[in-house]
Amino acid sequence: MHWTIEHIERVFLGYMEANGHAVIEGHSVRSPTDDVLFTTAGMHPLTPYLHGDEEHAAGKRLSDVQRCVRTTDIDEVGDDTHLTVFEMLGNWSIGDYFKETSIPQSFGLLTGEFGIDPHSLYVTVFAGDGDVPADDEAPRIWEATFHKAGVDPAGRINPLGADDNWWSNGPVGLCGPDTEIFVYVGDGPAPAFADRPEFVEIWNNVFMTYFRSDDGELRELAQRNVDTGMGLERLAMFLNEHTSVWETDELALLLERVGAALEVDTVGLDGEGTRSLRIVTDHLRAALVIAAAGIYPSASQQGYVLRKLIRRAVRYAELLRGHDRDLAAVTTDASERVAEVMGKRWPDVGPTESGQRAREVVEKEASKFARTLAKGVQHLAKDAESGETFTGELAFTLADTHGYPAELSAEEAARIGMPIAPDWESRYDELREQQRARSRG
Ligand code: ALA
Repeated sequence: MHWTIEHIERVFLGYMEANGHAVIEGHSVRSPTDDVLFTTAGMHPLTPYLHGDEEHAAGKRLSDVQRCVRTTDIDEVGDDTHLTVFEMLGNWSIGDYFKETSIPQSFGLLTGEFGIDPHSLYVTVFAGDGDVPADDEAPRIWEATFHKAGVDPAGRINPLGADDNWWSNGPVGLCGPDTEIFVYVGDGPAPAFADRPEFVEIWNNVFMTYFRSDDGELRELAQRNVDTGMGLERLAMFLNEHTSVWETDELALLLERVGAALEVDTVGLDGEGTRSLRIVTDHLRAALVIAAAGIYPSASQQGYVLRKLIRRAVRYAELLRGHDRDLAAVTTDASERVAEVMGKRWPDVGPTESGQRAREVVEKEASKFARTLAKGVQHLAKDAESGETFTGELAFTLADTHGYPAELSAEEAARIGMPIAPDWESRYDELREQQRARSRG
């Protein structure tokens, strides 16, 4: 059976609704709190309710699909599973049901609705640490749940420490022990559970019962919450028996469209090329979402993340495409195509006012940076022709007067075979430091 993203969402939300949850709208990707820049998890916008400060108008059982932005793993993007923007399917008990309901409920959805063989399920539970004792309820409930489904629980319930089974949304704030659900996707009988790729983590149920304050002190909350999160793209990958999120319908279509805009042969790409194409696609998709939330490129905070994503997209487009065609035009085209595909499911990046603005913002910044790169490349080509060496002075001039980042100009110099002064980097740093000192006056 083929599972589309829309179908997965419908099944998830329908099941949660049937189990008494109100389906609510996801929040903007702009962080609802000041401590971080973006919404990073489904629970994040629900913080005041989970904390017990406010009552949610829709009740104590909630469910939604939340778009999240995570930039901590930006260097991993381009592999099989990491995305800058991803969607999290979540359900919450705000001081209502607890583990005894949450665990069988999650099991029921996976095995009953998504048709996952219960024999392929493995879980981890919290083994305790210096602050909080081991969770002995979750293993008991899991055992009963497996037994009821006629599955021998032996070897399936694995206690792990706080590194694996304690979830918090940052160093300060709401937290608690969790239980993570894995599916074994290897061939033949499963080996003993271990951190290996054949065990794919699909769902996290957090028993959010603690709060850590600034001074590191942990205190129990007055209410017992459940906070779950399941990555939609990862689930789509697993249900459709793919090995990469980039093989799922929508992302595969995006790669194809962006590849066409860049005029690269997506089938013939090597590993590096594939990674570059994924990065261009991921970053344009994320940039459109962030810009649609009303953020503009700038030198700090969310605006800086947006600028960085757009510039990296252009840079990787350059690696794929070079400068034999107008880089500004091809990245603009790529961004249009991403907006067209994503806009079908995400109206805010589609043919709406926010979508229109997002495209303009992304394309303007992308074009500006593409021109910068093109000028820098031309400059270097001329210097190389006249027999110059790539020095710290040259890198500084290119960065300072033309905005061409030094690490990129050094890469380009090496690519075109220019001699490179061994001390270019330290000299470049010196010049920058001198300039900073001057501007400090
Ligand atoms: N908040 C939990 C997570 O993001 C569910 O994994």
